[in-house]
Amino acid sequence: MIAPLKPELPHFLLIGFGAVGQGLVPLMVQALGIVPTRITAWAADLQGEAVAQSVGISLRLQPLTPDNHAALLDAHLRPGDVLLNLAVEVSSLDLIAWCQRHDVLYLDTGIEPWPGGYQHGQGLEQTTNHWLREQVLALRQADRATAVIAHGANPGLISHLAKRALEQLAQDQGLSFTPGRWAELAQSLDVQVIQVAERDTQTDHRPIAPGEFRNTWSVPGFISELSQACEAGWGSHETALPSGAKHPSGKSPDSIYWLHPEHSLTQVKSWVPTVGDSLAWLVTHNESISLAEFLTVRDAQGQLQYRPTVYFAYQPCPPAAQSIAHWLHQHKQAPAVQHVIPLVHLQEGQDELGVLLCHRTGAYWYGSTLTLQAARHLAPHNSATTLQVAAGIVGALAWMLDHPRAGITEAEAIDSDQVLAVALPYLGHVGGTHTHWHPGPDGRFQHFIAPFIASPTP
Ligand SMILES: NC(=O)c1ccc[n+]([C@@H]2O[C@H](COP(=O)([O-])OP(=O)(O)OC[C@H]3O[C@@H](n4cnc5c(N)ncnc54)[C@H](O)[C@@H]3O)[C@@H](O)[C@H]2O)c1
Repeated sequence: MIAPLKPELPHFLLIGFGAVGQGLVPLMVQALGIVPTRITAWAADLQGEAVAQSVGISLRLQPLTPDNHAALLDAHLRPGDVLLNLAVEVSSLDLIAWCQRHDVLYLDTGIEPWPGGYQHGQGLEQTTNHWLREQVLALRQADRATAVIAHGANPGLISHLAKRALEQLAQDQGLSFTPGRWAELAQSLDVQVIQVAERDTQTDHRPIAPGEFRNTWSVPGFISELSQACEAGWGSHETALPSGAKHPSGKSPDSIYWLHPEHSLTQVKSWVPTVGDSLAWLVTHNESISLAEFLTVRDAQGQLQYRPTVYFAYQPCPPAAQSIAHWLHQHKQAPAVQHVIPLVHLQEGQDELGVLLCHRTGAYWYGSTLTLQAARHLAPHNSATTLQVAAGIVGALAWMLDHPRAGITEAEAIDSDQVLAVALPYLGHVGGTHTHWHPGPDGRFQHFIAPFIASPTP
């Protein structure tokens, strides 16, 4: 435990106090020594009131909108304070712009638009994570307050685990490498595909009714992801785009996006240590784009030499998987009942979150396996899922407080040793497993994509 921060140190404003916010505050206190009276949360509902009282922070019903956010933040925050955007559909772009103008530090766990920002009517490309990320990166200026973007578990922590995984694979293969040259290392290891491969088995063992959606983290947040286009960072070894896929306009073809099948979702073949060969949903995530870009190698003339294909292959918890089946049967209509599974109802399970580095002779999975039981022991108000997210946030916060003038910063640019030193105690078992698993004769995307199924049976 680090010594408590000094009284003149910042005030922390959390926008959103749902599953992630409630799990985070105990870690801000426990891992960083932040005094709870320095933390305020604003939310669009007061469902977290009992937790706010128990952890000793003030929670206010204060929904932010495009029209009110600037005046509210003006009145509450001073230079040097820290704003954490942990809400669904509160614009990262607008909050970052405000923070950069007012010298306030900022962190979010994903780049979000205001409500309506994911509706396809405005143009599909404008709803992609690629596009949302480009808007934020365009605000970058030198010598500005630090704004850490997209830093929870995934996106976020997973990019630090990816660096560790590459180092470990090199060591296991007896390959020498220059520390810090991650892209060249991935190229030398011939890593063609990186799946962020996550399997959540936490369950309350209660059946899902039609029109109900339950999950271990935000239901509206997950439904937004499922409603966005699929996306992948697009590897230099790929030869054919998936059906209907496009590259974003106006840039080198570093990623692709395409629509899920009308009444279903795109499935991919995946591998995780506990079950091996398995099927997962391909869900769009910021790290698919940022990690692929970070691991790109170009020659002196700027010609592309190497990039892995990167995407998120997700096996959500059993209640969420059943909820998805109902949602697909109801043609993706918004579920009438949506909620995060109350922590007291969760009975067992774990979150297995890692990178699967697919190379010529097999694959290497490296990540965190955290059981519900271990999460409960490590910190109050957390499931295994939220604790992995909160661990990523406090790791990045520790780095941010030491580097307050770094401007807009992505996970890949942050010192992984510092983040992991803070996060590792909360991640359960962290390690790697080699496998000969390979879904096809080579690492092209077409061998990973699973046969289309109209929709699973609820
Ligand atoms: N990077 C990661 O690893 C990761 C993992 C899980 C969740 N997330 C993201 O974290 C965020 C929070 O997730 P969660 O599971 O806590 O969600 P949640 O649905 O449990 O809670 C959302 C919170 O946002 C508040 N909110 C909604 N609209 C608001 C508004 N206009 N103004 C102020 N507050 C508002 C709600 O009142 C609630 O407190 C989401 O954006 C989610 O996608 C990231």
